[in-house]
Amino acid sequence: MITPFRLHAALLTPHSKERMSWHPHGVLVVDERGAIAWRGAEEELPEHFLPLKEIRSPHVLLPGLIDTHVHLPQLDCRGKFGASLLEWLDRFIYPEELRFAEEHVARDIARRFFAALAGAGTTTAMVYGTVHERATDIAFEEAERARLRVVFGKVLMDREAPAGLLESAADGIAATERLIERWHRKTARLWYAVTPRFALSCTPQLLSGAAVLAKRHDTYVQTHCNESGGEIARVAELFPAAPHYTGVYEAAGLLTPRTVLGHNIHTDDAQLAMLREHDCAVAHCPDSNLFLGSGRFPIEMHERHGIRVGLGSDVGAGTTLSMFHIMHAMSHVQARSLHPFVPLYHATLGGAAALGQDESLGSLDPGKQADMIEVEIEQSFCRGRRLHELSAQEIASVLVYRSSNQRVGRMWVGGEEIQRAEDGTGAAPSPAV
Ligand code: GUN
Ligand code: ZN
Repeated sequence: MITPFRLHAALLTPHSKERMSWHPHGVLVVDERGAIAWRGAEEELPEHFLPLKEIRSPHVLLPGLIDTHVHLPQLDCRGKFGASLLEWLDRFIYPEELRFAEEHVARDIARRFFAALAGAGTTTAMVYGTVHERATDIAFEEAERARLRVVFGKVLMDREAPAGLLESAADGIAATERLIERWHRKTARLWYAVTPRFALSCTPQLLSGAAVLAKRHDTYVQTHCNESGGEIARVAELFPAAPHYTGVYEAAGLLTPRTVLGHNIHTDDAQLAMLREHDCAVAHCPDSNLFLGSGRFPIEMHERHGIRVGLGSDVGAGTTLSMFHIMHAMSHVQARSLHPFVPLYHATLGGAAALGQDESLGSLDPGKQADMIEVEIEQSFCRGRRLHELSAQEIASVLVYRSSNQRVGRMWVGGEEIQRAEDGTGAAPSPAV
């Protein structure tokens, strides 16, 4: 239970890729359950809300940002150039993930990871761990401590990775089930994602065992699909009977309405129709795709097939946890002028829809959870005008296209203010990467 309050600020909130509500002099009322009781223009605020505690913000208030694909253990690996995906995994990522066998490494990085997520204005994230059961417990403990909404899973791998990161399919499944029992829905902010890393590093037995668990416990599923040429060629060699990469996951039973597939760049109509049939979602990770040279995400094909698309930072192939930067990167990948409402939608309401949580998250609408962030708009953009004189399009434009200058101020999850580091970054200083 929290003390209800009314927050006066300029409010920007999405309805769709094309439409946002903009209340330059807005108010948002939060009830004792941390839900939004009312939202609108100041002059229309019903009188019975006047006795509530008042908070005023000189900044823009947005829904909390949603990152639908990110790797916790790769926090310190950002920006390590390693050519193609498979070479990069071998040279930088697998050696780093091996270090998570040690508790103090797992604790230190998990703590800094969630602090940095909060610092970036991300209130909800779907996150990959390593193969280690203990490190996964630690990550959940730190997620709970950070008070963020987190979908998390221990990675499953039983082939084509260093020995220290492999386990038998039976061991991986047993550990996953223990973790689900300990953490899935332990609080209203934590969920488990069964996480076979990608088809390349999993035998058919491991994939189908993972699917059984996800169904039995009604968890999320997260994995990678159709990211790079080398990966796709190897998957075709390992699964010669499958019609295509997506078909590998379908045969295993991993395609569900709670499945989020990372990347899905090199796809086609047959595979997209399969994803639609199973109502799966896709996490688009533009900054990662640029860094690894993975290719251009075919967003229009996903739209044509009616597939839910969230945005993902994909740290460490993504270079930052800032979803402002990721929104900007989305336009670079498309190599065309993109209306700023589009990336802003995918980083908020679109991300919530990808997670099947758009009834409670992703916009500042009555009945939803009060997950929200304050963002300072640069004075130089306003050119003497006041914030409330700008249009919704101008606000969205500066948020997305001057992404490197964004400063996130206060942040609330379920109406509860999240305390962050005093320097405003939320992150402890990181060692050099
Ligand atoms: N495919 C399998 N594992 C990974 C990973 O850690 N990062 C990315 N970008 N792709 C992957
Ligand atoms: Zn990834």
